[in-house]
Amino acid sequence: MLIKQPPDIPGSEITSEQAFLNRRQFMKQGAILGAGVGIGGTAQAGLQADDEVTPEAIVTSYNNFYEFGTDKSDPAKYAHEMTIDPWTVEVSGKAKKTGKFAFEDIIKGLDVEERIYRFRCVEAWSMVVPWNGIPLKKILEQFEPSGDAKFVEFRTLVRPAEMRGQRGLFSSIDWPYLEGLRMDEAYHPLTLMVTGVFGKDLPNQNGAPWRLMVPWKYGFKSVKSIVSIRFTDRQPRNTWQALQPSEYGFYANVNPEVSHPRWSQARERRLPSSLFAPNWRPTLPFNGYADEVADLYAGMDLSKFY
Ligand code: MTE
Repeated sequence: MLIKQPPDIPGSEITSEQAFLNRRQFMKQGAILGAGVGIGGTAQAGLQADDEVTPEAIVTSYNNFYEFGTDKSDPAKYAHEMTIDPWTVEVSGKAKKTGKFAFEDIIKGLDVEERIYRFRCVEAWSMVVPWNGIPLKKILEQFEPSGDAKFVEFRTLVRPAEMRGQRGLFSSIDWPYLEGLRMDEAYHPLTLMVTGVFGKDLPNQNGAPWRLMVPWKYGFKSVKSIVSIRFTDRQPRNTWQALQPSEYGFYANVNPEVSHPRWSQARERRLPSSLFAPNWRPTLPFNGYADEVADLYAGMDLSKFY
């Protein structure tokens, strides 16, 4: 595994512990990038020499967050209407510790790490993003899931008063936005619960206060603004599969060989990209993380389990 180890970081008196951890970890990584051994080096998993970090202005303004509208610019315009403090998370299902928990209490004492990941949307655009977050395994273990917890399901907040996309008009989605992972996927060291980006707390449009990041899967698996974690023995329903089962599956592993019914997945537009300068590049199996994750799917026909 080529993942940076978490440093031993003390809390801060002048800012929230989470913001401090996000920023501190980012600055440390910045120093590594400055020394030229970050990207393309051993500090980050799966990155290639020509993977440049996408400008922050794009990462935080070109978004999919249908709770705020379907246009890429809607989340940055309207997500500030969502209140994220206090933030309560309900943990349920097949685990020893279930109930309602304050977000701060769940992440307390856990090290925030920086991971620069390639991020590939099913719509065939991609970015390279410096996320700050906590390995999902460290979060889930706290609830002591039982042996028959085979999957974990995540739900996004439902609050139409603050989420204009949930108020009906454009909404073909049956809220809440739902996603799920197999437990071995959830426990994989690359799977991150993201609390920050570019060394700052996560902006609302990117899924504050925390969102999933599974870098070898299409972006729709990376559910935002999570308020519920449920351990289950059955494969959960996920929003896009429920909406259009012929187009979106449960696994959603990035796969250049399996086309979306309406477009090829063989290549992607790396942002920034324009109509006149589309910046195409080939899409890699498992988004370039095959060495780390292909074993999870040994023996599975990935054209069937798409
Ligand atoms: N989570 C929720 N709750 N609602 C959404 O509409 N969109 C998904 C995913 N998570 C979405 C979501 C899709 S399709 C993508 S590509 C990513 O979020 C986009 O993340 P970003 O806006 O941070 O780039």
